[in-house]
Amino acid sequence: MVQLKTRRLLLREFTPDDYEAAHAYAGDPEVTRYMEWGPNTPEDTRIFLTRATERQHENPRLNYTLAIDHPDHGVIGGCGIYITSTQNRNASIGYCLNSHHWGKGYATEVAGKLIAYGFEALGMHRITATCDPRNTASWRVMEHNNMKREGHLREDKQLRGEWRDSYIYSILRHEYGPNGSDR
Ligand SMILES: CC(C)(COP(=O)(O)OP(=O)(O)OC[C@H]1O[C@@H](n2cnc3c(N)ncnc32)[C@H](O)[C@@H]1OP(=O)(O)O)[C@@H](O)C(=O)NCCC(=O)NCCS
Repeated sequence: MVQLKTRRLLLREFTPDDYEAAHAYAGDPEVTRYMEWGPNTPEDTRIFLTRATERQHENPRLNYTLAIDHPDHGVIGGCGIYITSTQNRNASIGYCLNSHHWGKGYATEVAGKLIAYGFEALGMHRITATCDPRNTASWRVMEHNNMKREGHLREDKQLRGEWRDSYIYSILRHEYGPNGSDR
């Protein structure tokens, strides 16, 4: 079972008991505005938790979906690192926080730890993240973690009846500094 400590947070495996906290953010349209999923129905969140817990036992494990656990507030969001190519040692990361906890630097801390885990523990060579260009907070998180913008993909996604662009960011193993691991 994976447990990653950041300066202020614990990234840990989801359990079915996290339903209330997970649904609080995953069911919020403000939170999922730029996401490819949501806003979740209660059933969607139950399926999400079932899938996340099943994946904890997959071997080889490619999907590390983790709860963002705050010592005072409990689960304040979700995040993950997903191996997209074992052969090329490529992974992608994602993060999502309850809106009550935005703007405190938590996502920057979370992304830094996911990147550290990807390079140090999973042996990745390249880690990517994508977001809607209008999602400034998300690409600022990537840039704070030394990820480089590789491109602007035009209308690569159709979400909720609208064509959307994406920024793609990446960081390579040799660009990853030692500070990444103590976030
Ligand atoms: C994107 C998200 C994870 C950022 O989390 P966060 O913990 O608030 O981010 P941080 O506090 O680490 O801030 C990161 C940067 O974004 C900036 N930022 C935060 N909210 C912002 C907003 N609404 N508009 C513009 N910039 C914003 C911060 O100022 C900071 O940049 P700076 O240090 O240069 O000022 C959070 O807004 C969220 O969960 N959004 C909904 C889910 C989502 O979109 N996830 C990403 C999908 S790709």
